[in-house]
Amino acid sequence: MEKMNLLMFLFLLASFLLPLAYGFSELHIDCGATNETNISYSGIIKWVTDEYYIEKGQNNMVVSSNNFSTMNTLRYFPIDKKSCYKLPADYAGHTVLLRAGFYYGNYDGFNKPPSFDLEVDGNLWANVVTSGSEDVPVFYELIYRTVRDNVSVCLVRTSDDIPIISSLEGVLVYDDSYTKMASNTALHLHSRINYGANKSIEKLIDIYAEQFLREWTSVEMTEYINISMDYIPDGYVFRENEPPWPVMATAIQAKNFTDSIYLTVDFLDQTQQEAYFVLYFMNPLSDFDSGKTGRVDVYIDNQKLNTTDVPNFGTRTEISVVTLYPINVTGSANVTISPAVNSTLPPLVNAMEVFIVTNVKSEGNEVLHSVVVFISCIFLHLVNTLVLH
Ligand SMILES: *[C@@H]1O[C@H](CO)[C@@H](O)[C@H](O)[C@H]1NC(C)=O
Ligand SMILES: *[C@@H]1O[C@H](CO)[C@@H](O)[C@H](O)[C@H]1NC(C)=O
Ligand SMILES: *[C@@H]1O[C@H](CO)[C@@H](O)[C@H](O)[C@H]1NC(C)=O
Ligand SMILES: *[C@@H]1O[C@H](CO)[C@@H](O)[C@H](O)[C@H]1NC(C)=O
Ligand SMILES: *[C@@H]1O[C@H](CO)[C@@H](O)[C@H](O)[C@H]1NC(C)=O
Ligand SMILES: *[C@@H]1O[C@H](CO)[C@@H](O)[C@H](O)[C@H]1NC(C)=O
Ligand SMILES: *[C@@H]1O[C@H](CO)[C@@H](O)[C@H](O)[C@H]1NC(C)=O
Repeated sequence: MEKMNLLMFLFLLASFLLPLAYGFSELHIDCGATNETNISYSGIIKWVTDEYYIEKGQNNMVVSSNNFSTMNTLRYFPIDKKSCYKLPADYAGHTVLLRAGFYYGNYDGFNKPPSFDLEVDGNLWANVVTSGSEDVPVFYELIYRTVRDNVSVCLVRTSDDIPIISSLEGVLVYDDSYTKMASNTALHLHSRINYGANKSIEKLIDIYAEQFLREWTSVEMTEYINISMDYIPDGYVFRENEPPWPVMATAIQAKNFTDSIYLTVDFLDQTQQEAYFVLYFMNPLSDFDSGKTGRVDVYIDNQKLNTTDVPNFGTRTEISVVTLYPINVTGSANVTISPAVNSTLPPLVNAMEVFIVTNVKSEGNEVLHSVVVFISCIFLHLVNTLVLH
C-alpha cells in the first residue's frame, strides 16, 4: 500500500514536471485570429490563436469570410523594430520543421505588400517578400535543430514596411530524418516535388501519410511517362525522411532504358550557395518483370555523385533515398538521372527535395538540457526500481 502511494506520488510529480520539460510535437498558430479552429481533413489539425506566443503587434482581419483559412487573419507590427514569437520546444538538439505563412491581402488598403526579414534564434532565415504581382500567400519553411528549450521566430523591419504574419507552424521531425544536415546549419526549403502526380493528389496526402505535414508539389512533365501504383496502401511508413506513400506511388520515367531524365532547378539568388538535395526512388509498377533491374546514376551539373538501385515495390518494400550534400550551386543546377551500368529498366524518379543550406550560430543552453535529461533519468530510475521490487 505504501509502495503504491509512493508510486502514485512519483507519477503525479512526473506528470507535473514533464509538461515543463516538453515542447510541441506539433503546433499550428493562426496569427491574428481571435478563436481557435479545428479543421478536419482525414484527421484534425488544431489551429490555435497566437496570444500565448507573442506579446507585440495587433490583429487584423484580411478576408471577411465564413470559410476558415489560416490566411484570413494576420498580426501586424506597426511599432517594433523586431517582434518575436516564442515557441516552446523540447530541449536542445531536436530537429523541427518550421513554416511561416504570409498573406497581405491589402489589409491596410495601401496596396503595398511589405518586405522584411524573418529570423530564427537570431539567425537570418529569409528575406520575406509578401506578394509580387499575384495575390497569393507565400510560405517559408526551415528544417532546424533547436538550440535551447524554445525557438524564437522574429519579424525584423528592414525599411518603413510594417511586418505581418498569417500563420506559424512547428512540427517535430524524427531523428532519422535529414541526418546529413551539418551542425550549425539549417535547411531552407527551395522545392519539394512529387513527380508524375497530378494536382489532385496534393489534397489527398493526409496527415497520417505525411508525418511532418510537409507539402509536396505535384509535377508532370510532357517529356516523360507518368507512372503510378494502382493502389495506395494504408499506413505504410518508410524509414529515412518518411516520404508519404502517395508520393512514392507516382514517378516520372524515361521513355527508353537508354534515355536520361533531366531536371533543372532554378535558384532566385544568383550568387554561389550551398544546397542539399534529396532524391527518392522506388518503382511503383506492380507488373514488374523480375528479370529486369532498375539502377540509376545521379549527376548534378555533369558530375556523377551517386549510383543506386531503384527497388521495386513488388519485391522489396524499401526505397532508395539519396542525399547529396554539400553541393555548390550558382543560379541553377542540372540534375540528371541516367541508366547505370547493367540497368535494364528506364530510369525513373519519384520525388526530390532541394534546400538551401543556411548557417546558424552555435548557442544554446546545453546545461539546461543536461539538467532536464538528468531529472528525467532519475524519475525513470525511481519508477523502475519501485515497479521491479
Ligand atoms: C469566438 O468565440 C467567442 C466566444 O466563444 C464567440 O462568441 C464568437 O462568436 C467566436 N467568433 C467567431 C468568429 O467564431
Ligand atoms: C488527376 O487525377 C484525377 C484522379 O485520378 C483524375 O480524375 C483527373 O482527371 C486527373 N487530372 C488530370 C489533369 O489528369
Ligand atoms: C504526363 O502528364 C503530363 C501532364 O498531364 C502530360 O502532359 C504528359 O503527356 C503525360 N505523359 C505521358 C507519357 O502520359
Ligand atoms: C530505345 O533505344 C534504343 C537505342 O537507342 C533503340 O534501339 C530502341 O529502338 C529504343 N526503343 C524504343 C522503344 O524507343
Ligand atoms: C548513394 O547515396 C546513398 C544514400 O545517401 C549512400 O548510402 C550510398 O553510399 C551512395 N552511393 C554512392 C555510390 O555514392
Ligand atoms: C544546365 O544546363 C543548361 C542547358 O544545357 C546550361 O545552359 C546551364 O549552364 C547548366 N547549368 C549549370 C549550372 O551547369
Ligand atoms: C554488369 O554485368 C556484368 C555481367 O553480368 C558483370 O560482370 C559486371 O560486374 C556488372 N557491372 C556492374 C557495375 O554491376
